[in-house]
Amino acid sequence: MKKKFNLLFLLAMMGLVIVSRGAGAQEEVNIVPRPTMVRAEKGSFLLTPGTVINVTGGEEALPACRLFSDLLARSLGTPLEIRQGKKSLKKAINVSVDATLGEEAYTLVARERSVEIRGGSARGVFYAFQTLRQLLPAGVERGDPSASLEIRGVTIEDEPRFAYRGMMLDVARHFFPVEDVKTYIDMLALHKINRFHWHLTDDQGWRLEIKKYPLLTEVGSRRDETVIGKNTGQYDGIPHGGFYTQEEVKEIVQYAAERYITVIPEVELPGHAFAALASYPSLGCTGGPYKVATYWGVFNEVFCAGKEETFAFLEGVLDEVIALFPSEYVHIGGDECPKMRWKQCRACQARIKAEKLADEHELQSYFVKRIERFLNAKGRKLIGFDEILEGGISRTATVMSWRGTKGGLEAARLGNQAVMTPNSHAYFDYYQSKDTKNEPFAIGGFVPLEKVYELNPTEGLNEQEALLIQGAQANLWTEYISTISHVQYMVLPRMAALAEVAWTRQDQRSYDDFLKRAIVLTDRYTALGYNFARHLFN
Ligand code: ACM
Ligand code: ZN
Repeated sequence: MKKKFNLLFLLAMMGLVIVSRGAGAQEEVNIVPRPTMVRAEKGSFLLTPGTVINVTGGEEALPACRLFSDLLARSLGTPLEIRQGKKSLKKAINVSVDATLGEEAYTLVARERSVEIRGGSARGVFYAFQTLRQLLPAGVERGDPSASLEIRGVTIEDEPRFAYRGMMLDVARHFFPVEDVKTYIDMLALHKINRFHWHLTDDQGWRLEIKKYPLLTEVGSRRDETVIGKNTGQYDGIPHGGFYTQEEVKEIVQYAAERYITVIPEVELPGHAFAALASYPSLGCTGGPYKVATYWGVFNEVFCAGKEETFAFLEGVLDEVIALFPSEYVHIGGDECPKMRWKQCRACQARIKAEKLADEHELQSYFVKRIERFLNAKGRKLIGFDEILEGGISRTATVMSWRGTKGGLEAARLGNQAVMTPNSHAYFDYYQSKDTKNEPFAIGGFVPLEKVYELNPTEGLNEQEALLIQGAQANLWTEYISTISHVQYMVLPRMAALAEVAWTRQDQRSYDDFLKRAIVLTDRYTALGYNFARHLFN
């Protein structure tokens, strides 16, 4: 009797061991954003310290391989060997670039014998590795040596719906140090986001070193204090400041490029210019004096559109911006520019007359078009918020639609390209719960996870017009956000929904299915030490 019991016990224990080994490879494939095609295969691939990454074609894929190897080194205790070979090896991750695929496309096949990765370019290979990351348990993100490195058998074919998948961070209202910006870039990379829109200047701070105009950072990067709450009239009495040196900018641009993320710099004009005017008062209509804003809102003090000096200044700034940022797009803001000063300014009125403009809206259009011509002559493209439609838009400017999607729709109907970042779906400074008393103080609004997911960037357009929609982006304005932990709380997991909006084909999207995968993704956030909002568990 006793023997029999022991035997049963032993068998049961073996069973448990087998079950738990089987569970080592993740049973379900939970990738965010959802790939085009996922098919389970028999067996699983076991990653070990001896696994080689074998690049059989396309040495430009080596950096993406190195990043993956570095990630795994934390769990394995040693980086994976990367070599270049002629043919596919057993027990290896075989990587090749196959230009017959789309530039950002990839295929990933995991079987017992090997993992095969093909990317349309190094970029595609990078995305394959981001997917492979999500096939491994979250523990690898924090270098857990006990994390199972068994990858379940699977074939994945994948390609993004949109070429532009963006996230904005406002570093003007609150400054975030280089390390925080890199963390933000890491967060983007995990979600296959490929544009980092960096809002570098605003009324409350100028954050970019410009050698030709040193006062921009000596004066403009620092405000005396910050209003408490929503313009309560009470101030904290604490100076706030910070800026990025050009060396730091280069470091960030490089860091992003290694993750296939283009940094799009934004220099705001003609409005949101208080910090620039505080630095160089002659650039305003009245000549000042001005001081860097200490409260929030839309200010009447904007760049004078009449003075030639303004354009010489902006061109000097943009020359340095262009030298620092390889991005094809340069963002010029363009939003929320009151016309009050222009109406009273002799220089501005003289410009309206000389250029035969109808009114101040056309003066704004003149301003933006003139800057666009300058950028185009340097081989760059202008992108601006949807106010650039007012008073007439050039044929070539790209519209970033923020006041809902209507600016983007109008742009596409005019034949202009557009990026959708509607405040109705993609403003991550808005509350994500109705229970605002239990949320950190926010600007207002209500954009829960499900709402983000509902965005279809081409809705309302015919096929031809839809081709002009470059993609989608979410914006994080930081009036009320001053730490990276709070940044993370506001953008995670909403960034996951935005990523899927921009990456996954519309006919393959389902919120319920997304939710299940997003919940799994939060284990990775935890392992990475990211703060995130937990409403998706309810
Ligand atoms: C904006 O939110 N003012 C573009
Ligand atoms: Zn003026």
